[in-house]
Amino acid sequence: MYSATHVPVMLRESVSHLVTDRGGYYIDATFGRGGHAKEILASINEKGRVYAFDRDPASKEQFEKTFRKEGRLSFSQGKFSDILTEMQALKLVGKVSGILIDCGVSSPQLEEASRGFSFRREGPLDMRMNPNEGFSAADWLNSADEREISQVIWKLGQESFARRIARSIVAKRPLETTIQLAGLVLKEYEFSGRKKSRVHPATKTFQAIRMHVNGEIKELQKILLDGPEMLSIGGRIAVISFHSIEDREVKKSFHSLAVGTKLPRSIPILEKDRIASWRSIGKALKPSIKEIAVNPRSRTAVMRVIERVT
Ligand SMILES: C[S@@+](CC[C@H](N)C(=O)[O-])C[C@H]1O[C@@H](n2cnc3c(N)ncnc32)[C@H](O)[C@@H]1O
Repeated sequence: MYSATHVPVMLRESVSHLVTDRGGYYIDATFGRGGHAKEILASINEKGRVYAFDRDPASKEQFEKTFRKEGRLSFSQGKFSDILTEMQALKLVGKVSGILIDCGVSSPQLEEASRGFSFRREGPLDMRMNPNEGFSAADWLNSADEREISQVIWKLGQESFARRIARSIVAKRPLETTIQLAGLVLKEYEFSGRKKSRVHPATKTFQAIRMHVNGEIKELQKILLDGPEMLSIGGRIAVISFHSIEDREVKKSFHSLAVGTKLPRSIPILEKDRIASWRSIGKALKPSIKEIAVNPRSRTAVMRVIERVT
């Protein structure tokens, strides 16, 4: 069990934007340690319900330890891509008042050395949010070809040394630990003579590998597709993302809901007269300077909210 705590990001803003019906059904798609779920529970009444999901078995332990007696909250260990099926089984599709998606990993996941997410802690190169599913970072790094590794580090990490790092990974395989990988990235930076920055050189590489191993973008695309179907009229989806690629997906998906597809010219309705089925709630929101000072992990967060109108 983890000892580190997780400070929920944009807690008040996200929940106040999400909860519009105090007696409604809510989905917390990223339960983590339950910080947002607790705030949603505080905002709803005795009729309201929260259906929480997380792919990490440690979140299930957390739920059982802390929330078991809370009758308005249930937990299912599952991925974003499992949620629609679960909601269908509960016959709640079209009846959900709000879905919260707080992307990425939690502080306890990052800080637990045995999970292999951190370049600062010696641990097995795992990085899976659910260690019982899929392939570990080591499995992938020790078998993928150099080009694929380089592309992942470049695309998901926007790391300009992606090629060098991939070449070095392939030359030094098999890699087994986080510190081995971090050391190898550090060496590439030192060879390049690039000026030292406050951010650890392995940050982008670790982020890219984690996102790849967990299929994070595909998962996000799936919930952005399924989420709207689950909502009732007036229901909202709030997404907090931490990466420009995630935010781009959210922006694209919300934009296409709010604007819809262009009508063919043969339909005698002007674009301006169309009644939109969805509306964006405000612009993208960022954490306050005060929040960033208290919780630096929040500095890259962006929140977007959309509402079903008809
Ligand atoms: C930033 S943390 C959420 C923290 C949470 N809001 C809290 O207050 O404690 C993100 C959580 O989402 C989970 N997660 C990320 N992607 C997921 C996915 N595709 N399906 C289910 N859970 C996911 C991670 O395991 C992690 O626990």
